[in-house]
Formats: sequence, structure tokens, C-alpha cells
Amino acid sequence: MPDQMQPVRTLAPAGHRLDIEAVRVRYGQTLAVRDVTLNVAPGEILALLGPSGCGKTTLLRSIAGFIRPDQGRITVDGRAIDRLPPGQRGVGIVFQSYALFPHMSAAENVAYGLEARGRPKQEIVQRVEATLAAVRMSGFAARRPANLSGGQQQRVALARALVIEPSILLLDEPFAALDRSLRLDLQLEIKRIQRRFGVTCVLVTHDQDEAMSMADRMAVMNAGQVEQVGPPTELYDTPATAFVAGFVGTTNRLSGVVEAVMGEAHDIRLDVGGVMRVQSPRTFSRGARVLLCARPEQLTLTGGEAGFAAELRLSLPLGPSVIHDVVAGATELKLQQARHGAPPPPGPVRIGLLAGARPSLFPEGDTP
Ligand SMILES: Nc1ncnc2c1ncn2[C@@H]1O[C@H](COP(=O)(O)OP(=O)(O)O)[C@@H](O)[C@H]1O
Ligand SMILES: [Mg+2]
Repeated sequence: MPDQMQPVRTLAPAGHRLDIEAVRVRYGQTLAVRDVTLNVAPGEILALLGPSGCGKTTLLRSIAGFIRPDQGRITVDGRAIDRLPPGQRGVGIVFQSYALFPHMSAAENVAYGLEARGRPKQEIVQRVEATLAAVRMSGFAARRPANLSGGQQQRVALARALVIEPSILLLDEPFAALDRSLRLDLQLEIKRIQRRFGVTCVLVTHDQDEAMSMADRMAVMNAGQVEQVGPPTELYDTPATAFVAGFVGTTNRLSGVVEAVMGEAHDIRLDVGGVMRVQSPRTFSRGARVLLCARPEQLTLTGGEAGFAAELRLSLPLGPSVIHDVVAGATELKLQQARHGAPPPPGPVRIGLLAGARPSLFPEGDTP
């Protein structure tokens, strides 16, 4: 056949779609996952972010098939996988602890899934070699896990998950046991490999920086529920709940009462004193108690008349920016601003809202 008749080979194979619909998991009296619905697009990395105990691992293990949910549906490309045993779901999983077989070499660990599937010997050898090369571990094929660093063990674990050519790759805090520099290396590696293989990926983490840098979209979980799903910048700029505002990025919480409402503009009389005018698409009626969540970069130290009195305790210059540690009564605040010259001395200041900043307003009960 002449060359031009060869079918076109795309670099990244089309990924697969994962849909989680109203999944509920109960352990005895504990509702660990409460009717979670999530849709992951082909080839996407979705980060599942939330505090310890919020149900991330339980949801991941439900997708992998190690846990049978009490309710709900899980489909890949529209086909239900709920009833399939883990080995037949086309799902690869990498755990927080390396979970490699200690008595097997790196190559044997990677080969395991293919042997379990009864693949021919020749194919196993080729695929193990290619996958170890993809995670840059070719030179370590004969080593046992004990003779590999933590980062290297996680690369082997990744190869073991990828070698079966999964439709969905699940990563449960895969960097948690690694120190900072190794973590960054492996984050880059996983993103590179994920793009190359085009594999749809759910990454569990409790680290917001990791979620922000790795993910196309983030889902923030709290107490078994998903509170918001969206691109990282959307969650940062327009958090749906006070929990999301506090969990994604840093936030300053100021409680107060709505004094006046003019369309989206709300005048909030703050408990710490002063009035702040906040533009809020979510409307509140006059007299309602609210929680104003302002990012460190949305507040200024030179609030003028409209601001409230506070005490600057400490300023930390960080290259181009400066962090101010401020206290107003019992309320501690953190401000971040562009640095111009030396930071101001500690002492009395007035805190105001930066012109054009859009902090978030929530009903006061809406706290974690
Ligand atoms: N095997 C289990 N039996 C009983 N309760 C469990 C079990 N596994 C997890 N849980 C509980 O379910 C909730 C969610 O746990 P988990 O999914 O591990 O959270 P995360 O991964 O977000 O830290 C927690 O309250 C945890 O204590
Ligand atoms: Mg977990």
C-alpha cells in the first residue's frame, strides 16, 4: 500500500467520557458520598479537591469498582460500568502510598496487569518497555521498589496504571508522600503523559495549588457533597459558597448587616466598624446578616473614611508584593499588595476595599 493510503494517526487518542450521576455511598451510619454528580470530558483532568474525610477516596474507589455505591450510576462513554468488576472497567488507579509489589522488579510490577489479562508474552515485553520509557524509568526496569526513590516508585505505579491503556486514569493524592521538588517533577510528568495519552483523568488532592496547576477543572467537595465545579480561576473569582471561598485561595471573613440595597450594590455595615459597598449578583434584603469574603488583594491599607480602623502588626515583603498582617478587634486579616519601596511601619491603619474589587457575599449561616 502506498504511504499516502495509510490511515492518519493522531498523536493523542481521543479520550473517554466519564459521568457520575447521583452517586451515594454509606458506611453504616456515615453518608460518605451524598448524591454526587460529576461529568468529566474526554481527555480532561478534573481535580477533586477537599479536606480530609470529605469523601474523595470513597468516590474514586466507587469509580474503580472497589466500592459498590448504594445509589447512582457511573458510565464511561454512556455505558454503565457499575456492574463490572474492577479489572474489566478500563480504569487505572494510582494510590497515595506506592502500593507496588515489593518482591517484584519495576518491570514485573508493570507487567502484572497485562499478565492478569492473559496477554501474549511478546506483547507484554513490548508494552512494559514502552510504558517504562514513557515515564522515563527504562534504566530501572530490574530494580525492586526498595531500591527506588519515592518519586521513582510513583513513576512505576503510574506506568502500571497506564500499561493497560485505561479509558480513565484515577490518581488518589499521588504526590502526598513526596517532598516538594519531587512533587513538582512528577506533577509535570503526569501532565505531560496525560496530554500525550489523551487519557481522561480524575486527580484527588487536598492541595489547592496542586489542583490549580494540574487541572482543567476543579470540583470542591465538602462533607460528601460537591459544592462547586469549574475552571480554577472561576472558583477563585466567584466562589459559590463560603466554604469554597475559604478552601480555594485565602479569604478574609468579615461579618455584618445589609444596610442598603441598590440593584447589585449592597452596603454592608461591618461588625468591625465602617461600611463597605459590595457588588453582589446574589441579592440580600436589608437587615440580613451576611459574611463578606474578601481576597487579600481586594483590600487596601488606605481605606480612607469609608474603611474601618485596624492595627498593622507586621508586613512581609515578598519580592514584588507585600503581605500585611492586620488585626481589627478579634478579626485577623491578611492583605496582599504590590510593593512600592520599604513596607510601612506597624501602627494604626484604615482598611478599605480596592476600587473595582468584587468580594463575595454569603448568608452568614453559610460557614463551614
Ligand atoms: N471503610 C470505611 N468504613 C467506615 N467509614 C469509612 C470507611 N472509609 C472511609 N470512611 C469514612 O467516610 C468518610 C470519607 O472518607 P474518605 O473517602 O476516605 O475521605 P477523603 O479521601 O476525602 O479523606 C470519612 O468520614 C471516613 O471516616
Ligand atoms: Mg483519601
